[in-house]
Amino acid sequence: MNDMNKHVMDEAIGETRLDRNTQGVIGKGAPRYEGKLKVSGTAPYAYEHLGGEDVAYGFIVPASIARGKIRSVDTSAAEAVPGVLKVISGEKIVRAASQPMAPAAQTIDGEVFHYNQPVAVVIADTFEVARHASKLVKVEYSETEGRFDITNRHTVREPDSMPMTPNQSRGDFEHAFAEAEVQFDQTYTTPSYQAAAMEPHATTAKWDGNHLTVWTSHQLLETAPGQIAKHTGIDEDKITVHSPYIGGGFGSKLGLGPDAVMAANATIAIGKPVKIALTRQNVFQATSRRGETIQRVRIGATKAGKITCFAHETDTTNSPGNGFFEPSGISSLFLYPGKDRIIAHNIVETDVLMTSAVRAPGEATGMLATESALDELAETLGIDPVEFRRMNEPEVNPQDDRPFSSRRLMECIDEGAKRFGWSDRPEKPASRREGEWLIGYGMSSASRKNDLMPSAAEIEMSSDGRATVRTGMTDIGTGTYTILQQIAAEMLGLPLDMVDVELGDSRFAASSGSGGSWGANSAGSSVYVASLALIRELASRLDADAETLTLKDGHAIFGNKQIPLPDILKGETISVTGKIEPGKQAEETHQASYGAHFCEVGVNVVTGETRIRRLLTVGAAGRILNEKTATSQCYGGQIWGIGYALEEDLVIDKRNGLIVNHDLAEYHVPVHADVPALEVVLLEDRDPHASPLAGKGIGELAIAGVGAAITNAIYNACGVRIRDYPATLDKVL
Ligand code: MOS
Repeated sequence: MNDMNKHVMDEAIGETRLDRNTQGVIGKGAPRYEGKLKVSGTAPYAYEHLGGEDVAYGFIVPASIARGKIRSVDTSAAEAVPGVLKVISGEKIVRAASQPMAPAAQTIDGEVFHYNQPVAVVIADTFEVARHASKLVKVEYSETEGRFDITNRHTVREPDSMPMTPNQSRGDFEHAFAEAEVQFDQTYTTPSYQAAAMEPHATTAKWDGNHLTVWTSHQLLETAPGQIAKHTGIDEDKITVHSPYIGGGFGSKLGLGPDAVMAANATIAIGKPVKIALTRQNVFQATSRRGETIQRVRIGATKAGKITCFAHETDTTNSPGNGFFEPSGISSLFLYPGKDRIIAHNIVETDVLMTSAVRAPGEATGMLATESALDELAETLGIDPVEFRRMNEPEVNPQDDRPFSSRRLMECIDEGAKRFGWSDRPEKPASRREGEWLIGYGMSSASRKNDLMPSAAEIEMSSDGRATVRTGMTDIGTGTYTILQQIAAEMLGLPLDMVDVELGDSRFAASSGSGGSWGANSAGSSVYVASLALIRELASRLDADAETLTLKDGHAIFGNKQIPLPDILKGETISVTGKIEPGKQAEETHQASYGAHFCEVGVNVVTGETRIRRLLTVGAAGRILNEKTATSQCYGGQIWGIGYALEEDLVIDKRNGLIVNHDLAEYHVPVHADVPALEVVLLEDRDPHASPLAGKGIGELAIAGVGAAITNAIYNACGVRIRDYPATLDKVL
């Protein structure tokens, strides 16, 4: 009964079962499935499990140098503190993984790769004792000289080919650029950033002598048991990992946190459950961060405004042993034309906390550069930025001539321009003033590449017609529970409250996990495939044709018959599993979501302060599965854009590699006072090439480009171009 029903995307084109259904729950802003648990504080997060049990607590000892070897660890003073149960150091200490696609926590082998890297962990009866004793662990180091400054380019190396092929050239850019009528050449810099999820990386682990159970805050469950097995020596089939609720990940929890391995080893060592939550400082200094970038953008154009060639070259950083790179050129591959092109990235090796994926790796930083470049070049040419983009809409992907699966960039821009009142933009910089405030408008494109990932889900239908969806998928706050409930309810003709959803358990069918904006589409498609299989099963029990069988309001309807589900199930519980796999569609078409941002700012002529007055985002991302959660994702992207344009800047001390502003008091993210009323409009859209749901990724779309819409508005307000993010007062005045 429970065979895997596999659905490869090639077969799926034209599948429209979802469109034929009339249950009416898909797309609507259904309330969050787990909302009541969360607002009442009863949804258990990783650190909150085993509430009533006798547990121990861990506290990390961070390295006090940036680079070198650990000579010795003296734990005697710490172990003498009453209540201390164990001090773990040496090979059982790992640093977090930086490869989001193939996450693997790395042993440190007695080396220090960055300041505040975990070198030991103290386990004690209480958190306070563990924290106190952690200060008594004496570590001696042989310090070596570190490299901390991206501009020094001490060691430059090729990035790994994840998450994109780093270097993609076409034609002869240098020649085309030299011949171009208009040559644009500017360099943009973006600082390092922290994901800064509200819930810190945290783990509760329990070894019962035979089985290891780990509750941890983690986006991609599938590889977690294997990694924990590798670092504990426990067989993978004796390890279960749970991640039912996650207070934000933003990429920082794609790899397994160091806390998970430490807590697992600690509970095995002491024989009782162990909890480790990273402190906010640990999160900033011992997980991962977004790499700082130096981006050179060169664009050749005709005087009439046609882009003829395009180059986007990025230097970014990572630490030794890590090949992940911030792929700033990812949207430059397909967004603008030019048959001669260079998209390239270098890793400048530094001895600072590893860099990894942070929300919209690539687009979030790359479009701060390119969307400003487009604005600057449009001005040079005397062309309105909206019209400049219209003149340069490619018909096929300029990188490889593939067709776009769907591309509604100009519709988003036109809809946004109309709603925003773009025609009222101040024509010249610094030409509109209200008292102390100079007013400016800016806009940008948005795009985020689309991926469909392999993902599986089980649906169990009990004899009363109630359905339970189970998958190893996670919900990082994005609305996964709700969306999967809606898809199953729509497909199976059930009211929402007849569908339960269970997520975040490594024993469930392996899922895409949450990352790269692929979660809803991939995990959602697996629920779609499982639903089709369940419909076939019900149809066969009725001797009905699955194609024409309709499920609605808890009934199966075919011919002139209408039969309640329990009458078909006759006391039985049935279970099916469905799996989606990407097929040729992902290769034969280029897939991305598109959008546009429009912003009005006021810049204070006395203080240089920028206030966002209006921010509008229009998006086209295929079928929207839940209007409310999709819109919330876009609000989040807009707010990150405000942070990147105006505030966020993870400061690395170039003398010693210390991350200076290692908490939310000093690392400034937007607060309510920084955020005006936001507006998000999602166009009615379908992309049948992208998934059987005809949806595309939306999670990271709205952060792409939005910061540049803001700095373009700053230029329009006061005539100051920001090429070194963020646009703090000193740069604007
Ligand atoms: Mo995302 S940065 O792939 O969690």
